[in-house]
Amino acid sequence: MNFRSLFSPLQVGPCRLSHRVVMAPLTRMRADGSSFAPRTLNAEYYRQRATPGGLIIAEASPVMAAGRGNPATPGIYSEQQINGWRDVVDAVHAKGGLIFLQLWHVGRVSHSSYQPGGVLPVAPSAVPIAGLTTMTASGKPAPYETPRVLETGEISDVIEGFRQGARNAQQCGFDGVEIHGANGYLIEQFLQSHTNLRTDRYGGSIANRARFLMEITQAVIEVWGADRVGVRLSPYGVANGSGEADPMPLYTHVIQSLDRLGLAYLHFIEPRSSGAGRAEVNHQNVPSAMVLFRPIWRGVLITAGGFTGETAEAAIAAGHADAISFGRIFISNPDLPQRLQHGYPLTPYNRATFYGGEEVGYTDYPVHGEMERA
Ligand SMILES: Cc1cc2nc3c(=O)[nH]c(=O)nc-3n(C[C@H](O)[C@H](O)[C@H](O)COP(=O)(O)O)c2cc1C
Repeated sequence: MNFRSLFSPLQVGPCRLSHRVVMAPLTRMRADGSSFAPRTLNAEYYRQRATPGGLIIAEASPVMAAGRGNPATPGIYSEQQINGWRDVVDAVHAKGGLIFLQLWHVGRVSHSSYQPGGVLPVAPSAVPIAGLTTMTASGKPAPYETPRVLETGEISDVIEGFRQGARNAQQCGFDGVEIHGANGYLIEQFLQSHTNLRTDRYGGSIANRARFLMEITQAVIEVWGADRVGVRLSPYGVANGSGEADPMPLYTHVIQSLDRLGLAYLHFIEPRSSGAGRAEVNHQNVPSAMVLFRPIWRGVLITAGGFTGETAEAAIAAGHADAISFGRIFISNPDLPQRLQHGYPLTPYNRATFYGGEEVGYTDYPVHGEMERA
């Protein structure tokens, strides 16, 4: 197949992409386990996946300690973390690559064992995640706790946390930032009606539920300028207890509101792959986010979800998206753009090594033509 669209250049804000095979943000839980700073190993992992003019969106990174919910996820709120990320960015830039950082707060998808002082995690409302278990910081399975409700006056502190995270990312030399508004984390908890039962100006109407995301986006734009800020959403997603009963009016409002800001891009997770971080999924009879929402988004649209080179090419050629981000197959194919371009076979990924550990399943996947390791 001729991948003419996938391997054509794309302007994303001031960044000139040489191709449209984007590396999706991927939590790998391999930062330093006590400082949560990226290590040399992490820089090597990103270096391997960088291509000249290729865009990497680095893994979700909590903007404050209270935003954590997993072991060894890299933060973006301390000097040591900033220094660690700077090495990652330098390694990617040395190969001519581009790299954005995904800014994160998990909200109720946490556990008191991750929280400073062992307090309860925060959320828009006191609604726990039902039917799923988490792992405590010491690795024990546990039910999710009922989160503590953020008081109206505290919400601005969280927004300021995103602003500071954005500033810190700038200090590292990133090319831009992406706000994580997907997958059931704090921003999505505010957006969706079953997790947001508030009666203040951050709850109730769709405009009120969207206010938290819009204020965060505004704060981050004030740091970076709109054309270096992306937002990720997962309409029709079912990850981490998310799921809006009637997503269409909510996401129509959110996307139209974001559209007016002139952002670098909007980034979706296609509903068919929602929850791919937890288990292999292929949801049937679900809508396509890019097909549904492309007509109301005038900027650059990136989407992810079980794409192959062929389906990515077809989606771009049809005008449904401008670029495709790849998650799982970028884990196991550090040279994914070259493999797709030349039709080389792909190395299968090993889910057992997605989260945590050292180089195995992280930096030891071969590039095409290298001896596969036993
Ligand atoms: C191991 C793993 C970690 C992930 N971590 C993140 C993350 O940090 N932020 C995010 O927005 N999505 C995350 N996702 C979702 C991916 O970015 C992507 O949208 C999803 O895997 C679907 O794309 P794929 O079918 O190409 O893997 C993760 C997925 C996996 C498999």
